[in-house]
Amino acid sequence: MEKKYKRTTVTSALPYANGPVHIGHLAGVYVPADIYVRYLRLKGEDVIFIGGSDEHGVPVTIRARKEGITPQDVVDRYHKIIKDSFAEFGISFDVYSRTTSKTHHKLASDFFRTLYEKNEFVEQTSEQYYDEEAKQFLADRYIVGECPRCHAPGAYGDQCEKCGSTLSPEELINPVSKLSGSKPVKRPTKHWFLPLNKHQDWLKKWILEDHKEWRPNVYGQCKSWLDMDLMPRAVTRDLEWGIPVPVEGAEGKVLYVWFDAPIGYISNTKELCDANPEKYGNWEKWWKDSDTRLIHFIGKDNIVFHCIVFPAMLKAEGSYILPDNVPSNEFLNLEGDKISTSRNWAVWLNEYLVDFPGKQDVLRYVLTANAPETKDNDFTWKDYQARNNNELVAIYGNFINRALVLTSKYFDGKVPALKELTDYDKETLKEFADVKNRLEQMLDNFKFRDAQKEAMNLARIGNKYLAETEPWKLVKTDMDRTSSILHIALQIAANLAIAFEPFLPFSSEKLRKMLNMQTFEWNQLGRVDLLPEGSVLGKAELLFEKIEDALVDAQVKRLHDIKAQNEAAAAEAEAKEKSASWKPEPVKEYADFEGFEKLDIRVGTILECTNVPKSDKLLKFKIDDGMGGRTILSGIAKSYPNPEELVGKQVCFVANFKPRKMMGLESQGMIMSAVNSDGKLVVISPSKEVANGCEVG
Ligand code: 2FM
Ligand code: ZN
Repeated sequence: MEKKYKRTTVTSALPYANGPVHIGHLAGVYVPADIYVRYLRLKGEDVIFIGGSDEHGVPVTIRARKEGITPQDVVDRYHKIIKDSFAEFGISFDVYSRTTSKTHHKLASDFFRTLYEKNEFVEQTSEQYYDEEAKQFLADRYIVGECPRCHAPGAYGDQCEKCGSTLSPEELINPVSKLSGSKPVKRPTKHWFLPLNKHQDWLKKWILEDHKEWRPNVYGQCKSWLDMDLMPRAVTRDLEWGIPVPVEGAEGKVLYVWFDAPIGYISNTKELCDANPEKYGNWEKWWKDSDTRLIHFIGKDNIVFHCIVFPAMLKAEGSYILPDNVPSNEFLNLEGDKISTSRNWAVWLNEYLVDFPGKQDVLRYVLTANAPETKDNDFTWKDYQARNNNELVAIYGNFINRALVLTSKYFDGKVPALKELTDYDKETLKEFADVKNRLEQMLDNFKFRDAQKEAMNLARIGNKYLAETEPWKLVKTDMDRTSSILHIALQIAANLAIAFEPFLPFSSEKLRKMLNMQTFEWNQLGRVDLLPEGSVLGKAELLFEKIEDALVDAQVKRLHDIKAQNEAAAAEAEAKEKSASWKPEPVKEYADFEGFEKLDIRVGTILECTNVPKSDKLLKFKIDDGMGGRTILSGIAKSYPNPEELVGKQVCFVANFKPRKMMGLESQGMIMSAVNSDGKLVVISPSKEVANGCEVG
């Protein structure tokens, strides 16, 4: 439902302060939110952009335990890193605060108290796992055990990372506390629940009927929730780290992180307004006035909390407005794999800034061009390079550079006069006369990818115009025509500075200075009188630079190395797991001695040991068997990645197996190996050197 409004409150998901932020965060939430806010500001609308760190929750406590520091140390460290990264990328928050702030603790606590006093919660006592040694209830992530679905060991109380199943701690087989390693026991504990079932009817109408315009991915996820029966959701937890539950009988309990985090948007607004009331007014108008539009930018894993749980909280409180839209993106993958913090499979913003100084707009551009608006998308370094070199440099940068350099060379750096318009000029101008409407249509509907494409199209028009009119040739014969062409080109350039501002703010700022633009407003878009004749231009600089292969190849190599390390670590963990649960095979049935006597087992020295081409299993051995030598093929390559290490060793081999062919080679026997507890094969050698050809018996 379109609504008339006076102002807009834009929020962007508060990232957990338990690690730095990566390109997935930027693409999913912060760049789109920033584009939107910059667009509204440029239009002169009343808007605030709220951000901040989400500093409570179990992941913070887990990191703190791992590093032997306090949760406060963890969030202090990452809040700063995250805040700095966002600032560097031009994410133009009006406020970036944190959920450990005093303002937030008080506001979240009061919010809970209001709902409590209005009887909006239900209290329930249930049995939950408790660690008697650590003397505390266990959060789901602190309980591990065997997965009831795939039987992998080490599954968490909320999820098995092996098979991806969502679990509850009760389902784990042989649960163990991660805190003390002891077996947890069940204890009764009381919690407060938000009865979402009570809110289901109005939520259904509000979303499914009144907000059909929400993105299909958001609407669809809400619909699948609302088609089922909603259940009461616990909004408190037995934990030390968080905001204490402000009622009697709740000692040792804190607000669930997903209860306090969205209230963080409100607290941060309050901080902003209290610090600067002249500029922003009273915080309540941004949250309680029906003339205010509320927009939440989030990632897809946050949809249910922002579309169902938080609105139910706001409605239960009674004095707040509800969100008008919740533009959520899908996920961004990296080089074909899911971005993962634990596997270090990410491009971290703080590291990007070191490796690509000054190239914030390039990343912003690529992430918007590939934004996962309707489906998951992939970031690759080759695509990053191609979009920079073929679009930013070759189209936008090239056009601007030509227009400015030619003006400086032939017109002394002053905007030349428009003498007359040819039909071709008129055609060109017509093409971008409507750009403002087209862009607005897209931006108002959160279609940032299409909008950026449209802006780039404008640059394409400019580039084509110069390529076809060739003022660098005309200058020798027709100065008037050259003057008109460059006049028009510079007007297009000024339009580009405005059109690209929400997307590429650093480059727009640079261009604005180069063009010496005195006014800079969205409403000027599409006009051809932005730069008056005779106005003096600034110094021409390159807007973008070509990115060479070496730079992106180094990034691809880094990811390659990380993948190799991850694979080695996974193999090692698997081997460890195997050997931890290993038991010797039961001894086989009695056998005859004659049977054994038939085997002719000998000792020989390995002279050569090499991989068999095209086989990942076979090794080819040249053995000094004391009888002129022989070749043996053995399927142990996976256990010996460096086969040359075996050269010089004595081994036992069966000498009287009938020769047989494998991969076109003849094998004359079998090398004897032990199968270790991790499944790896280890060749059998005599405990001291013996003569080659000796029998084993
Ligand atoms: O998914 C996350 O990273 C959460 N920290 C988002 C919270 S959004 C809001 F509720 F604060
Ligand atoms: Zn599993």
